[in-house]
Amino acid sequence: MSNEKNAPLWQQLLLTAQALSDVQKGQSANQVLEKISSPLRPGVQALLFHVLRRLGLAQTLLKKLAKQSPQKPVEALLCTALALACDEKALMYPPHTLVSQTVDAAKKSRLLKNSAPFINACLRRFLLEQDALLKEAHTLLLAQWNHPEWWIHQHQKDYPEQWQDILLANNSPAPMTLRVNTKRMTVNELLKIWLDAGMPSTPVGEFGLVLHQPLPVHQILGFLDGLCSVQDLGAQRAASLLKEQLHQKPIKKWRILDACAAPGGKTAHLLEIMDCEVLALDIDDRRCLKINENLQRLGLQAKVVTADAQDTDVWWDRKLFDAILLDAPCSASGIVRRHPDIRWLRRESDIAALAQQQSRMLESLWPLLAPSGLLLFCTCSVFHAEGQDVVQAFLTHNTQAAILPSPGHLIPKITGARGEVQDNAISDHDGFFYALLQKTD
Ligand SMILES: C[S@@+](CC[C@H](N)C(=O)[O-])C[C@H]1O[C@@H](n2cnc3c(N)ncnc32)[C@H](O)[C@@H]1O
Repeated sequence: MSNEKNAPLWQQLLLTAQALSDVQKGQSANQVLEKISSPLRPGVQALLFHVLRRLGLAQTLLKKLAKQSPQKPVEALLCTALALACDEKALMYPPHTLVSQTVDAAKKSRLLKNSAPFINACLRRFLLEQDALLKEAHTLLLAQWNHPEWWIHQHQKDYPEQWQDILLANNSPAPMTLRVNTKRMTVNELLKIWLDAGMPSTPVGEFGLVLHQPLPVHQILGFLDGLCSVQDLGAQRAASLLKEQLHQKPIKKWRILDACAAPGGKTAHLLEIMDCEVLALDIDDRRCLKINENLQRLGLQAKVVTADAQDTDVWWDRKLFDAILLDAPCSASGIVRRHPDIRWLRRESDIAALAQQQSRMLESLWPLLAPSGLLLFCTCSVFHAEGQDVVQAFLTHNTQAAILPSPGHLIPKITGARGEVQDNAISDHDGFFYALLQKTD
């Protein structure tokens, strides 16, 4: 295994095709990548993410190249190669190298070796006829936007003016945005330390820095010492929104519930910028361990409890909260650029089921809020069904709830065509929904 990092392309292609196949069976890309040995993982991840962002086009091309659907493993290898060859502006390898390495990959696999001639024929035909094939494929929404059709139609309905911008952003890589732990140092101080160490960054928002060159976290100066955390700029809005409102009220130490807290990104941010005590709940005990790890690294303290937020009888001590952050489970349709597998994993029916769960959680937690207390409801979704529709329905029947000025749905934004950092990087963030509700006295 000594030379794994320099594994030949054919081997990386085989691993990527296997990973794609596992995602298509329902596993998340993160789960699948965890199984790959660490020296090979970054290379396979780069290939897999590239493929997932072009999978609709690759599937459409394959239908045109093969009269009958090939067996699943053959289909996965062909889709991998086609996705890597079909976008002229973003080629990772010269097309002829890619084709010969894909055929080598098939020959070296017991499962695929009999299909090597077929794979060779499909890919050579693609190289010869690609202009016509691509033109024809692009007439289909799936191939043009690389999202399932139901997803595209939903965006067209929710955002008649902006649906194309959202889909374009979803298909671009996201920048590496970090949040500075301002309990420990200012944004400018960390920016200077990084610059002196040859890690240039650009400030974004009030607490963020975007690294010009993304790095694994353990290589980021100060990360292990708790000077910063990885957090998208859109996610950094949560703690700021609560702080802006809470600081208008004369309360000693805020008592805040973070109802869906793991892995603790927003819990930590609240503790970094406010004088507050936080109860951080999450239903998933393994993810609760992550909250504790993060708090420890950052030098912060909260009470962390594993529980179903809706089972208030089980975990609530009957003391009302000044504020509740409900970062509810959702489709994650706003963070597709960081997780290109999400669009292929979700089913249309998931959206209504998630929206119902979000409504139930809102109903269960509302009674725990003190009079004039604040509840920040958020999701990392851009579907109206998982944001504004949930809140509107809640406000219609809850006469004790008022909505304060709120961002609503933030749609994902990119600063450059390929997600590179530019001077106006301040506008670059994932998709989110935020609604700030207040309990009337
Ligand atoms: C969007 S993530 C939260 C991200 C977190 N707020 C942060 O900023 O790091 C949603 C979380 O809700 C948790 N969750 C789902 N259903 C829950 C429930 N009924 N009660 C408590 N937590 C729940 C999931 O385990 C998941 O960790």
